[in-house]
Amino acid sequence: MSETLSIKATALHDNVPLSIKIRSDDKISIVGYSGAGKTLLLEYFINNVVNQFPNLVVVDPVSRFSQKTNIRYRGKVECLHPSPNKICMKLQSEEDLEEVCKTINDIDTEPAFLIVDEIDRFVDVHSMLPETSMFFQQGRNYQHGGMFTVRQVGKLNKEVFSNSHYLILFKVYNKSDIEYLTDVLPLKFVRMIPQLSEHSFFLIDLRMSKLLGEYIYLPEKDTLKLVKTWEEENGK
Ligand SMILES: Nc1ncnc2c1ncn2[C@@H]1O[C@H](COP(=O)(O)OP(=O)(O)OP(=O)(O)O)[C@@H](O)[C@H]1O
Ligand SMILES: [Mg+2]
Repeated sequence: MSETLSIKATALHDNVPLSIKIRSDDKISIVGYSGAGKTLLLEYFINNVVNQFPNLVVVDPVSRFSQKTNIRYRGKVECLHPSPNKICMKLQSEEDLEEVCKTINDIDTEPAFLIVDEIDRFVDVHSMLPETSMFFQQGRNYQHGGMFTVRQVGKLNKEVFSNSHYLILFKVYNKSDIEYLTDVLPLKFVRMIPQLSEHSFFLIDLRMSKLLGEYIYLPEKDTLKLVKTWEEENGK
């Protein structure tokens, strides 16, 4: 059983409200260059979307959310027990994330949502620890979901990406990142990356291989705006 999250964005030109449905059991990867706005967008999602979930674990390695969200800051993994509820924490290592994933995997009463800023700090590119792997692998048939920002997608363990339902893709410049994306995305989307403006991003449905639109977060209004639908590109 899963609740449905609703991420709302307003169309830029005609002001028609538009809402994208993202479910609580979905996994969403957020990828982009340093300074693109990944963490800022995550903050928007935490404050406006996912805070309705009963179990929310936010991994905040660079201490960006502890003051700006209403989520309790708890420094230690032990604070997850017996039930995580809403917790913001710092992790030190891969083993800490393993412990967090074990706790989440053990919850079978209600959905839990795991948010990890800069997940590439906590997963090895080649091998994933077992509970962490289970969290990602079972994702699609399972009630738990999450959002993960990735600084260098070229160094990301493929399990994170391949088990994500949505990709939020900001501009990427790094050669190894572009090579990685060429491997896992339809080429037509990779070719469109240079057309993105500085802080806008593509929302891609990875299961359907569909570009849902180009969006931008407007900090002064704390809202998402649709920049372009890119419908013609999907049709090709
Ligand atoms: N949508 C936006 N509109 C205007 N400015 C933005 C936007 N998104 C980000 N910025 C600016 O860029 C800065 C960097 O954003 P942020 O820290 O979210 O980037 P990041 O992608 O998380 O970078 P890093 O990979 O280094 O963590 C912000 O402090 C803000 O000033
Ligand atoms: Mg960041």
